[in-house]
Amino acid sequence: MTDKSSIAAGTLGGASVRTQQSAARGLWSSRWVFFLAATGSAVGLGNIWKFPYITGENGGGAFVLVYLGCILLIGIPLLMAEVMIGRRGRQNPDGAVARLAREAGANTKWRVAGWLGGLTGFLILSFYLVVAGWALSYIPTTLSGTFSGVGGDASGELFNGLLASPMRLIVCGTLVLAATMLIVGFGVRGGLERSLRFLMPGLFVLLVGLVGYAAVTGEFLQALEFLFVPDFSALTATSVLIALGHAFFTLSLGAGAMMVYGSYLPEGTSIAKTSVLVALADTVVALLAGMAIFPLVFGNGLEPGAGPGLIFVTLPIAFGQMPLGQVVGGLFFVMLVIAALTSAISLSEPSIAWMTERFGLSRLKAVLVSGGLLWVLSLGSVFSFNLWADYQLFGKTFFDSLDYLTTNWLMPLGGLMTVLFTGWVMKEQTVRDAIGIRHGGLFRAWWLLLRFGTPLAIVLVFLNLSGLI
Ligand code: PHE
Repeated sequence: MTDKSSIAAGTLGGASVRTQQSAARGLWSSRWVFFLAATGSAVGLGNIWKFPYITGENGGGAFVLVYLGCILLIGIPLLMAEVMIGRRGRQNPDGAVARLAREAGANTKWRVAGWLGGLTGFLILSFYLVVAGWALSYIPTTLSGTFSGVGGDASGELFNGLLASPMRLIVCGTLVLAATMLIVGFGVRGGLERSLRFLMPGLFVLLVGLVGYAAVTGEFLQALEFLFVPDFSALTATSVLIALGHAFFTLSLGAGAMMVYGSYLPEGTSIAKTSVLVALADTVVALLAGMAIFPLVFGNGLEPGAGPGLIFVTLPIAFGQMPLGQVVGGLFFVMLVIAALTSAISLSEPSIAWMTERFGLSRLKAVLVSGGLLWVLSLGSVFSFNLWADYQLFGKTFFDSLDYLTTNWLMPLGGLMTVLFTGWVMKEQTVRDAIGIRHGGLFRAWWLLLRFGTPLAIVLVFLNLSGLI
């Protein structure tokens, strides 16, 4: 890919109003940078922390299959729609949807599809940064050799020790929040572009290396069987909802992130091609993470359904045994933190862009307001593991409830509104111009999927869960 669509070409070359508006907001300096940023948003804790543990909890292969189906039939079409709305609306998600509704002569109440996403992203970020804090605290723990020679029990105890200490969780979460806000405060482009060029390839290489190590030392075949041979008897209605929710979570959909990133995308970049590549990179990273972790889970007699601590308990055992494990492990957690940061940035950008564009706040003020609110909200997640562990709502802690509500309900709901808006409210010709798919057949396929397939699939999953079908 080239740098042809640079900021100069995108802003000075064209005379349209749309292009001039974007000049004030700034654009990615090339389509390659957009690809990196979108991949940076997609690849994060969802792939490396969440995917393995929910796969473990939901029985493996059949769950993975449903999840892959959701990526293909719901995730990719919606990803394209979100990026398209952002690029044509050239505003924060709320403003972009409102503008496009006006353009279509429709009720601007559709903007709820935008602001609900921003709100969802904000809520997710409040617990996301706590988990990123776990990874951060594991950097010094790993580097100092604490894990050398530990087995499953000892590693589990070390992790529980971390969860039991509100102070450590708060310090680490605050550091992650501060780093996120600092980067967002300086403008997403400058902060992100530099780190992404090295991070993504680095993370990939390290993961492949870990898969290799796990293949040699762990129960690789058992892991492959667990991940890729579907056992449908293990699948429940809730697992299907979780697979759907995770497809949203991992592709950063229904949270305003891809819309706001799309709003910085230069004209002329192929939305379809980029979206497919982002989804592919994201899926590959998740599957690699699974293939690195499950051989170790089975090799060390651990429980695949152990829950959110899975990678923090299993991987350190491997780092404690392999040659140079301290360094490799330290590097792994550094990368995990950076991967989490690039996602956290995209989680915070929609609400910050919203505050600056809707209420005229300066970027600094917006960062301070949202940083403060996030910090307070994140305490609820921190205390879920210690002080408030016994306070449960429907059998879930605050942390689990927030995760369940946002990922499995709010994101699909926001996504549903977005596809309905795109497929039924926007004019077909406008969408055709905005998405820029030149191949007629491909456009039709996407358009049909978006209008009928995607909304139907989401509604069916909702109905199925509520026991109606
Ligand atoms: N996709 C990110 C991950 O997998 C999380 C995320 C969700 C980021 C929603 C932005 C918006 O870790």
